[in-house]
Amino acid sequence: MPSLALLVDLFISTRATHSPPSTPPYCYLENLRAGSVGSAVAYSLLLRQVVADIVLIDINHDLCRAQVQDLSDATFLSNVRIRQGTLEDAQKADIIIITAGAKQKPGDTRLALVDRNFKVLKSILQSLQPIRSDAILLIVANPVDILTLFAQRLSGLPKGQVLGSGTLLDSIRLTRILASKLKVADTSIHAFVIGEHGDSQSVAWSTATVHGTPLLKVLPLTEAERDEIATTTKKKAEAIIKVKGFTSYGVAAVTARICEAIIFDHRQVLPLSHWQKEWDCCLSLPAVLGRDGIISSFPLSLNESEQAFLSSSAQSLKKVIAEYAEEL
Ligand SMILES: NC(=O)c1ccc[n+]([C@@H]2O[C@H](COP(=O)([O-])OP(=O)(O)OC[C@H]3O[C@@H](n4cnc5c(N)ncnc54)[C@H](O)[C@@H]3O)[C@@H](O)[C@H]2O)c1
Repeated sequence: MPSLALLVDLFISTRATHSPPSTPPYCYLENLRAGSVGSAVAYSLLLRQVVADIVLIDINHDLCRAQVQDLSDATFLSNVRIRQGTLEDAQKADIIIITAGAKQKPGDTRLALVDRNFKVLKSILQSLQPIRSDAILLIVANPVDILTLFAQRLSGLPKGQVLGSGTLLDSIRLTRILASKLKVADTSIHAFVIGEHGDSQSVAWSTATVHGTPLLKVLPLTEAERDEIATTTKKKAEAIIKVKGFTSYGVAAVTARICEAIIFDHRQVLPLSHWQKEWDCCLSLPAVLGRDGIISSFPLSLNESEQAFLSSSAQSLKKVIAEYAEEL
């Protein structure tokens, strides 16, 4: 097996050319924490053969070991190497995914997790120093938008290299509902949930299209129907958590997609949580994603009421962020 240093070097040379590699890039990836989401992310990455190495780290060492043992039974499908690691390993990683932290209990909002998960994030980022200057930090733990901003401030990395999974999952949920109504493939629909990955999110209906045709022309939804779809999308996680206690498969698939876009420098436009100059906070709007992380925000032509919803989502996030000003 090649040394980890060699894997990292090869990956850096891939990055310099900005051209898609002919073989899967030798990316060394850390998946921080081996809980429900962390292990499902590892499983998705493993099946999609996105990376050569996956290292799982969790303060619960026994759980982490068991997850690695279980996951290693699936590596015959892809030859991806998976092992349990330490925070020193994370200092060498190309992509560090943070899924550590408390999860919502039934009835909790994501914002209710902020205090506990800020402490977890802060201690992880302190232990990660010195972090590789070209590493990508992908935040998945909730509240994802607030933790992404905190990670930008605490990691010392350029803002574009620190992003959150944001509303990509919500947008996929929305697309699924719309695609089933129209009886077309999900990939034919371009529709974004924007703002917070949480209660203040909204749907950018005016920009939604089906292969270039405005969605509302081919699917003339009433305002009440639009509200119902937006609410079902927003509440989907809550409905799952109420029964099984957590969600993992959707977020895992979404995380694998994000890693793929980074590693292969796809330049895909995805609704991800990233820094917004206008509000000095992170929330989801479409962004171009590539090997350097967020390459640019992609302009979205919102109507007046959508812009107002977005602005109020930003304000609600900023209110929470302000409470942590002294700790950042
Ligand atoms: N962004 C999204 O779309 C999305 C979707 C689902 C879940 N999540 C979030 O992902 C996070 C993880 O969810 P999960 O279901 O895997 O939870 P989990 O409890 O199964 O796993 C969390 C892991 O974090 C570790 N951990 C908990 N507290 C810690 C601490 N103080 N220090 C270090 N490690 C700690 C635990 O050992 C555990 O293994 C939650 O915040 C959840 O809300 C995000």
